[in-house]
Amino acid sequence: MKTLENEHRDSFSASPLFEQSKALKLAVIPSLSRGVRGFKKSVDFIGSPAAANHHDDDHLSSASSVGEALRWGMTTLRSSSSSPRADANRLLEHVLGRTSAWLVAHDTEGLDPVERHGFVRVVKERARGVPVAYVLGRWGFFGSEYTVNADVLVPRPETELLVERALQFLMRRAGRLQVLDVGTGSGAIACAIAQALPNAIVHATDNNAAAIRLAQQNAARLGVQDRCTFFVGDLAAPVRGERYACVLANLPYIPTAELPRRPDPASYEPRGALDGGPDGLALYRRLLSELPSLLEDDALAVLEAAAPTIAALVDVARRYVVRADVDVARDYAGQERFVVVATGSSARSAE
Ligand SMILES: C[S@@+](CC[C@H](N)C(=O)[O-])C[C@H]1O[C@@H](n2cnc3c(N)ncnc32)[C@H](O)[C@@H]1O
Repeated sequence: MKTLENEHRDSFSASPLFEQSKALKLAVIPSLSRGVRGFKKSVDFIGSPAAANHHDDDHLSSASSVGEALRWGMTTLRSSSSSPRADANRLLEHVLGRTSAWLVAHDTEGLDPVERHGFVRVVKERARGVPVAYVLGRWGFFGSEYTVNADVLVPRPETELLVERALQFLMRRAGRLQVLDVGTGSGAIACAIAQALPNAIVHATDNNAAAIRLAQQNAARLGVQDRCTFFVGDLAAPVRGERYACVLANLPYIPTAELPRRPDPASYEPRGALDGGPDGLALYRRLLSELPSLLEDDALAVLEAAAPTIAALVDVARRYVVRADVDVARDYAGQERFVVVATGSSARSAE
């Protein structure tokens, strides 16, 4: 079976899109796919589960320099983050509006009181377990920056592989392409596809109206609002009757009993973005029952899930989408992560 990693090496690793997001991926590879029985999303990317923090009473002296602030931030986050240095750096960059290179070059520069209080506030927020992405209010995905808040899942690096798999298929096609992103959250998948493919029209759904509002804002900021239409509704119900060259979904897939709890940073993400029902596949079962009526003759669907659910998800896909190739692709950590459903000859020839 050909995996996404192989495909990376074979054909995509030379593309500018891959290069664009490579730095981000390299930074996160070691932290992927940890968690209870493999169900968790890569929460270490947004911050590790927090232990009780014993540094809340610590404070930053009024004469602190950039370097001292970073050291204080690191010490304060040591018991609540697996990446205290990186977190402290990102938070100080955010508060000062500076790059990490600037921080290094200005190690001895003093902080003014507003900067100091701002930094203490965000470090303490992070020390409570709040994901870095929510503290910053933005996060990178596929080379672009997205506004994120507690209404949406923080887009994960492994989901970039889902986008790459879709692009690999769609880039071989000419003419107008219709793509569907089910459960769009921040709109990351939808916008990444629209940014990469000027000939793509993207429809995206979410049952959370607040998420759809944020996704619309992200699409507008990234300049793809004319080719991305966002719908509030259940799965593909808002677009019934439409047919797509590609259907993408990163639906909630954590079994209810495995949902993260405080102080795990993932517990700050919306339950509606995580809870996949008793076995994690409740939403995918419903989507797959509709998939044949959503796909064009020569089409691809890529569904993201957790390794322990993949075999069952493949079975469901084979049951509902007859006369299709159903394959599994892995994430950066080598975990089975995606179910790829291909109908028609051009999809098969892309393998
Ligand atoms: C795991 S998050 C993925 C968000 C985004 N696609 C990403 O990859 O970052 C799942 C999303 O599916 C949405 N969702 C959950 N149940 C849904 C349903 N029945 N219909 C449509 N969207 C749903 C959630 O609100 C959430 O935004």
